[in-house]
Amino acid sequence: MALIERSFRERIILVGVTIPPETTSETEEHLDELGLLVDTAGADVVGRMLQRREHPDPATYIGKGKADELREESLVVDSDTVVFDNDLSPAQQRNLEKILGRTAISRTEVILDIFAQNARTPEGRAQVELAQLRHRLPRLRGRGVDLSRQAGAAGVGGGTGAGGARIGGRGPGETKLEIDRRRLLARMSKLEKQLKELSKTRRTQRKGRERSGIRNVSIVGYTNAGKSTLLNKLTDAGVLVEDRLFATLDPRARRLDLPGGEAVVLSDTVGFIRKLPHQLVEAFKSTLEVVGESDLLVHVVDASAHDPDGQMRAVREVLDEIGAADVPELLVFNKVDVTTEAKRFVESNPGSVAISALTGAGIDELLDVLGDRLRSMSHVVELVVPYERGDVLAALHRDGEVLVESHEDGGTRVRARLDDAPRSRYAEYVVEAS
Ligand code: GTP
Repeated sequence: MALIERSFRERIILVGVTIPPETTSETEEHLDELGLLVDTAGADVVGRMLQRREHPDPATYIGKGKADELREESLVVDSDTVVFDNDLSPAQQRNLEKILGRTAISRTEVILDIFAQNARTPEGRAQVELAQLRHRLPRLRGRGVDLSRQAGAAGVGGGTGAGGARIGGRGPGETKLEIDRRRLLARMSKLEKQLKELSKTRRTQRKGRERSGIRNVSIVGYTNAGKSTLLNKLTDAGVLVEDRLFATLDPRARRLDLPGGEAVVLSDTVGFIRKLPHQLVEAFKSTLEVVGESDLLVHVVDASAHDPDGQMRAVREVLDEIGAADVPELLVFNKVDVTTEAKRFVESNPGSVAISALTGAGIDELLDVLGDRLRSMSHVVELVVPYERGDVLAALHRDGEVLVESHEDGGTRVRARLDDAPRSRYAEYVVEAS
């Protein structure tokens, strides 16, 4: 009994540095968010420390005196790991670990760890592992503290996840991260090859859908906005929903039949977040491609969040980074059941909808608006298809919505609603509307 003196969750101190023009209250806010991420990763926050500096210290990021203070504090609160809100260079990380006598990691490693714990499909797992290895490669040398941790020898403090390792030491699923440089490089190139294959398959599937004229709609939004809940509500997809950040890792595609009769493919995407690590955006390119190639984005915003505007901006920054800034967006303000803010946001954003993905309030309106938006994006065209091209006529029925069909000397005259992509395939049969 006496052995169970403390919880087996890893104990973390958060560190934030305010560098102007950032304000102290902004740093505090980012640390709050980092605390949520640490909790999602399965560890406990037992302290936090802030410093204001003009520039980061090249050797230790925080000042030397502050690093000593941090060591004292770590002893007092019995922390296992110190998490910095900013990225640390490999040298800073090494120096800090020497002073602190415990591991020092950054927000990036926490986010990578959460992704590692949540990766579900083979593609997602390969992507996360690759991102982790890319992050790890320049940090291999001289991190004595870390190497024992990576090898899964964490002992007390091992949280959930593979092998009881700590944040930064877990790979996706049961995979332990490799510690040998040569094996690590070989593993990376194997993962890259695997991902290329998977991305080819994904592209073929997408082409198939495109040919059949089905539109792609992606649900995007800040992490915890309610994307999975909405997908479930709309399609009864049974996607795993957890009250944790990043519960969704891999995009899941589901068919959704709109009230007007059209079918769309609805994809859930990974939650976006401020300072999404670059390695992740890189590794997830093929997954995030889905977003850029969508016909419409349903951008879900948690109207009850502390700063919905800031979250919307963060999402748009990521969209920009993945080349999806030009895809039309339908703004959806969620959690109307717990906040009156949703209604206020709808008023200041024409064309948006307020919903509760949980209770279903506003879902019918959302489906109507979604259908309207999609219909307004397709165009009605008039075509004459020669009688000997029965194959083209059949394809037209598949690709679009045939509104009127009549017969004349030159062939079958068809008035049809077609999307941009299929429309270009029938260019030679298009005639002026009569
Ligand atoms: P990530 O996968 O982290 O990006 O999250 P997500 O955007 O997919 O959010 P998810 O659907 O997992 O929901 C996050 C939390 O918000 C869960 O606890 C949901 O139950 C809750 N939630 C979602 N929609 C609503 C809503 O309309 N009202 C309320 N009160 N809670 C909601």
